[in-house]
Parts: sequence; structure tokens; C-alpha cells
Amino acid sequence: MCAKQKSDKYIKSPLNYTGGKYKILAPIYDILPEQVETFVDLFAGGFNVGINAKAANIVCNDQISYIIDLYRYFQEHSTETLILEINKRISEFELSQQNAAGYNSLRKRYNQSKDIIDFFVLICFAFNHQIRFNNKHQFNTPFGKERSSYNQSIENNLILFCNAIHSKKIQFLNKDFLSVDLSLLGKNDLVYCDPPYLISTGSYNDGKRGFKDWTESEERQLLNLLDRIDSQGVMFALSNVVYHKGMSNEILIEWSKKYVVNYIDKSYSNCSYHFKDRNAKTVEVLITNFERRKPDCQQLSLRL
Ligand SMILES: C[S@@+](CC[C@H](N)C(=O)[O-])C[C@H]1O[C@@H](n2cnc3c(N)ncnc32)[C@H](O)[C@@H]1O
Repeated sequence: MCAKQKSDKYIKSPLNYTGGKYKILAPIYDILPEQVETFVDLFAGGFNVGINAKAANIVCNDQISYIIDLYRYFQEHSTETLILEINKRISEFELSQQNAAGYNSLRKRYNQSKDIIDFFVLICFAFNHQIRFNNKHQFNTPFGKERSSYNQSIENNLILFCNAIHSKKIQFLNKDFLSVDLSLLGKNDLVYCDPPYLISTGSYNDGKRGFKDWTESEERQLLNLLDRIDSQGVMFALSNVVYHKGMSNEILIEWSKKYVVNYIDKSYSNCSYHFKDRNAKTVEVLITNFERRKPDCQQLSLRL
């Protein structure tokens, strides 16, 4: 039986990450193997995918040092200490959904001290919980007036997320994806990639944020890396979009012909990339070098 696209059995990142995969974890995990030895989340971001992996070892990598530092803090401290520290900041700056001045003072302090708890609390009260830096690595998301706060839902997600970090064997890395050593991986290991998408921009890959941009060159380097991983006998899964707002990613479409293209929205499975209305659609895929674990409702995996 095909699972409904429900994600509530999964742990949700406490960071509301742009491009986060929480909502599509069910279709992703229907495709991935049930259990692997080492699971590498090479572009972890909010870490929604990696944190839910059933694996003896998990590797969480991202080029944004602040996020990895935050996860390392979660790993090294008890959840009680963390929540106590968060509440201290909220009282100290009298943070609420209305207090923009309090938010701005905290942001100013964070940009000088780079205190990791300040960073997390800022994200909670920031507009759309967005993590955005300028070129000088100054956090610059505006206040999320009347909308954003550290609420019960974030706290619940945080507790479950930290419990999982404490109970699983996770290595946190802060590297460019090309510098992560994958040479020791073998046939029971899986590299999951959720890079910035060439044809849709998030605030972490527009090249204006003090971090490395994502261009055609990085796209090709990643696809070459996945070819090498494939010849090493290691499993890979690549999340991406092949069409978005009238654009298509031809580099990816051409490359994917060698592999298995799993459509996340199953209604696309039958029409491949020749469907008529493609300009209006975002077509999300998971490209793998193995066949999906659970059969697709409409059709087994299909090659583009
Ligand atoms: C689409 S997001 C990942 C979202 C994540 N899967 C989730 O569910 O929350 C892409 C991530 O890739 C990271 N990234 C971009 N370029 C990178 C690079 N060259 N090396 C490593 N990470 C990079 C960004 O910082 C961002 O966090």
C-alpha cells in the first residue's frame, strides 16, 4: 500500500529552513532504503532528512558554519540547559511578537558576539524564521512582527530534534561539499544531496550572503561527484527540481538519464518531461542510483 504524504511520524527541524524537506519526508523515505550503515547528508541545512535516517552513523555537513555550530551546541548540551538559556535571552530582551526594539538589540549583540543561543533565539523571532546574512556575515533578517516567536510548536520540535541528536551517532562537518572525504564509503552507505537548486534561488545561494554561490560550475561538479560515488558502488539520492516557473534544468535532465528519476508528486510519473503544462509547474524529483524501496502508487520508477 502506498503511504499518504504525511510526515508527522518524522522529526521536524526546529529551524524553518528555506528549501527544507520536512513536508516531503514520507515520499523521500519511501524511496530510500530502510536502513543503511552510514548516511551522509551533504547539504544538511535544517537537517530534516539526515536526522530521520536509520543508520549506524550519520554525517551532517553544511557550508554555513553557524548552523553546524548550533547543532554541535545541541549535541554537547542537555536539552534542559538549552531551554533554560533560550528563556534567559527571551526575558533579558523582553522578546515578544510586538517588541521590535528588543529583537533589534539582540540582533546587534549577536552580530558582535556570535553567541550561538542568541542566533537560535533570533531565528525564532525573525521574519519567516529566515536565516539571512549579508556579505560581512552580519545576520540581517528583519523582525517577524505579530508572526514569529519562540512558541510551543518550536519547543516541541526542538526537544525531539535534540533527543535524536543525543541518541544517534552523528558527526557534524562544516565543509564545502567537495572537501568532504567520501572515499571510505561502500555499498551499504548512502550520500543524500539536497543542494541549492540552479533554477530557484534561496537566500543561502544568491551569492550575496558571504557564502559560496551555486552556479552551473558547482552543479556540474556535484553531478561528477555523484558519478564517482556511483562507480565506487555507494548509493546516492539527489533532491532537485527539473522544472520551475517556466525554466528547466537541462544539465540535470541530460545527466539523470543514466539513473532512476523518482517523481515526488506522483502525478508527474506518467508524463515524463513531455507534459504540456510544464511551464507552470515545479517538478520535484529524487534521482537515485538504485530502485525505490516501496513501489510507486501509479507506476514504478521511471527514467526521464
Ligand atoms: C536546500 S538547502 C538543504 C535543506 C535541507 N535538506 C532541509 O531539509 O532542511 C541547501 C543547503 O546547501 C548548503 N550549501 C550550499 N552550497 C554548499 C556547498 N558548496 N557546500 C556545502 N553546503 C552547501 C546551504 O547552506 C543550504 O543549507
